[in-house]
Amino acid sequence: MKVLVFGGSGQVGQELCQQLTEHGIVFKAPSHKALDIADDKQVAELIARYQPTMVVNAVGYRDLVKAESEPSKCFAINRDAAASMAAICSKHNITLIHLSSYLVFDGAKTEPYTEKDTANPQGVLAGSLWQGEQLIRERCSRHIILRLGWVVSARRYNLVNTILSQLKQNQEVWVASDRLGNPTPAVDVAAVIIAILYQLDCEAEVFGTYHYGGVEPVAESKFAEVLLNDAMQYDELPSEKLLVKECNQLDYLPSHLNARLSVNKIRDTFGIHAKAWRPAIAKIVKGFYV
Ligand SMILES: NC(=O)c1ccc[n+]([C@@H]2O[C@H](COP(=O)([O-])OP(=O)(O)OC[C@H]3O[C@@H](n4cnc5c(N)ncnc54)[C@H](OP(=O)(O)O)[C@@H]3O)[C@@H](O)[C@H]2O)c1
Repeated sequence: MKVLVFGGSGQVGQELCQQLTEHGIVFKAPSHKALDIADDKQVAELIARYQPTMVVNAVGYRDLVKAESEPSKCFAINRDAAASMAAICSKHNITLIHLSSYLVFDGAKTEPYTEKDTANPQGVLAGSLWQGEQLIRERCSRHIILRLGWVVSARRYNLVNTILSQLKQNQEVWVASDRLGNPTPAVDVAAVIIAILYQLDCEAEVFGTYHYGGVEPVAESKFAEVLLNDAMQYDELPSEKLLVKECNQLDYLPSHLNARLSVNKIRDTFGIHAKAWRPAIAKIVKGFYV
């Protein structure tokens, strides 16, 4: 197999490139600087030249708040570029693995979301992700759409870095007691993608939409406490500055109460069992400091 990765410098992308190397899988991962996926001509040219058997799209516009004021940029990446990548892959009979998010759901359900639940995206970012998914389904039958929970790693922008950086700067950090989700280490997402790549390479007919998130779901406030406890061995953080409210009292929008994803379909189809997130979090916190 030969894999082309877009978004190789991201949280998931970096872990994926490392694991592809460890597995001896031939791949190419052009940087954002070398190739903007919004430029569909460049994407088409590269795919035609490199002739991968699989393409992984780990690119994402991810800023929930900024997306509200720059919707065209957000839609250009999460919807239009993904849709055109799907059409190019279909033309060359290539399988596209595309990363999406729990955000396609409105968060109002009280149970974990399954792949059969109806999407109801709230806000620009969520809408762009959902419309991107829909166009991929229309344009490329050989697709895997992998929806993820709260992706975390020691790098880049995520819940771990946000909470620890603010505490480190002695700032107040407000977290929600009623916002639930699955912390999902990027390293585990990469391992899931590798497992999927191997099955696709064996011509398994497994195309479709799947959910992945770390075991077990947790409230944002409890997750923050775990981080704080782990971080205390490296730094004296001001624990009194970690403050808890209910979601509707916090001012970031749109508020999303339930990011929990059911992982039964990915288990039943690929034999992929979701991993516990706690052991990886200890390493991620260490990575934040060391
Ligand atoms: N993080 C989460 O909590 C979360 C949750 C659910 C789903 N997801 C989805 O999972 C995927 C990966 O997330 P992540 O957290 O790994 O993202 P990330 O760390 O923000 O990385 C995004 C990657 O996309 C690249 N990129 C951005 N715009 C680009 C463009 N126009 N052309 C080419 N490359 C571009 C970035 O390159 P530069 O850094 O060089 O700009 C970076 O490599 C995304 O689709 C995201 O929506 C994430």
